[in-house]
Amino acid sequence: MEGDAPAAVAKGTVCVTGAAGFIGSWLVMRLLERGYVVRATVRDPGNMKKVKHLLELPKASTHLTLWKADMTEEGSFDEAIQGCEGVFHVATPMDFESKDPENEVIKPTIDGVLSIIRSCVKAKSVKRLVYTSSAGTVNVQEQQQPVYDETNWSDLDFIYSKKMTGWMYFVSKLLAEKQAWEAAKENNIDFISIIPTLVVGPFIMPTFPPSLVTALCLITGNEAHYSIIKQGQFVHLDDLCESHIFLYEDPKAQGRYICSSHDATIHDLAKMIKEKWPEYYIPELNGIDKDIPVVSFSSKKLKGMGFQYKYTLEDMFRGAIDTCREKGLLPYSTKTHENGQEKESFPDTTKAHENGKEKESVLRQSQPKNKQTAK
Ligand SMILES: NC(=O)c1ccc[n+]([C@@H]2O[C@H](COP(=O)([O-])OP(=O)(O)OC[C@H]3O[C@@H](n4cnc5c(N)ncnc54)[C@H](OP(=O)(O)O)[C@@H]3O)[C@@H](O)[C@H]2O)c1
Repeated sequence: MEGDAPAAVAKGTVCVTGAAGFIGSWLVMRLLERGYVVRATVRDPGNMKKVKHLLELPKASTHLTLWKADMTEEGSFDEAIQGCEGVFHVATPMDFESKDPENEVIKPTIDGVLSIIRSCVKAKSVKRLVYTSSAGTVNVQEQQQPVYDETNWSDLDFIYSKKMTGWMYFVSKLLAEKQAWEAAKENNIDFISIIPTLVVGPFIMPTFPPSLVTALCLITGNEAHYSIIKQGQFVHLDDLCESHIFLYEDPKAQGRYICSSHDATIHDLAKMIKEKWPEYYIPELNGIDKDIPVVSFSSKKLKGMGFQYKYTLEDMFRGAIDTCREKGLLPYSTKTHENGQEKESFPDTTKAHENGKEKESVLRQSQPKNKQTAK
């Protein structure tokens, strides 16, 4: 996995929140390769099932420490951030099935980023705070535009009125980023936000990543997530993490940056998966307009800084599917034959983590919650 990473030279100390997750763990791996000393925050550092993949990373024994911190507790990140030059705030509660979305998803996301800004102020050592935002802050609105850029913001009233799949996550990220901009300005913190679209690729976390529940929904038959990829945009996990480090290191970086390399409709994805992975059963998408337009996220600003994407859409899905297969999270085929007819066979659940506990993750839901376009 060290690939063609640049040779490591000694770098400063940085803190990564949500370090055990899909994006956090890959970012930690790339930062260690670069020579950074990394303080990784997790909610339960004693839970070996959740942190082993971090401790096993090259250079972890000399350059990585784990710190306990929770976005629901004010001041929780103070110690981990004290003395750091940089902070990557990646953590977020990602529970689309939450029974109490206001208190379990929205409030911790907003309180968390504001508390982290206060920790940066107290530390006095932090030169830049990089925040991982979401495409959910940009284009969740009634009418999709052909192209989105960093000036666009999602429509909060529309999200609350439709309550589409993932609505609480969109609200949480939208309000958190808006309030973070105000707080960073008031407190004179050098703050930049990175706006990834759907992140897909190989991964090192041990359980099924939340974003792959969406990305692989055509394979798993999770119709509730079709709305999110109906007019989708995608970025490779490695490109995203490289963009975090690239922007952190460039003193000229400021404001919001969309990080998205490919646009594709659900029909484009279905076609690619059928061609490249014929062993998976892909349902007919009869209810979705065949000519639905592509909605694009412009990366002009990021590319204008000199950043280059390395991966194709196929690379993203190959990485994700191969890793899921290797970790036993996805069957090698979902096609069976019964009485001469092709049929789908797929387990309904696989293992995931939620609120720090291992749980069965629902990969399929027979009843879509809402077919509204969410992205
Ligand atoms: N993946 C995507 O497609 C995508 C797209 C756009 C934006 N993003 C953004 O990228 C970031 C990371 O997402 P991800 O895909 O890596 O998700 P993930 O695998 O679920 O990782 C999120 C991490 O957040 C931590 N977390 C949750 N609640 C917390 C709390 N109350 N206090 C402290 N930590 C908490 C969890 O840490 P524990 O290990 O302690 O449980 C988890 O490891 C998020 O900010 C998300 O909004 C992701």
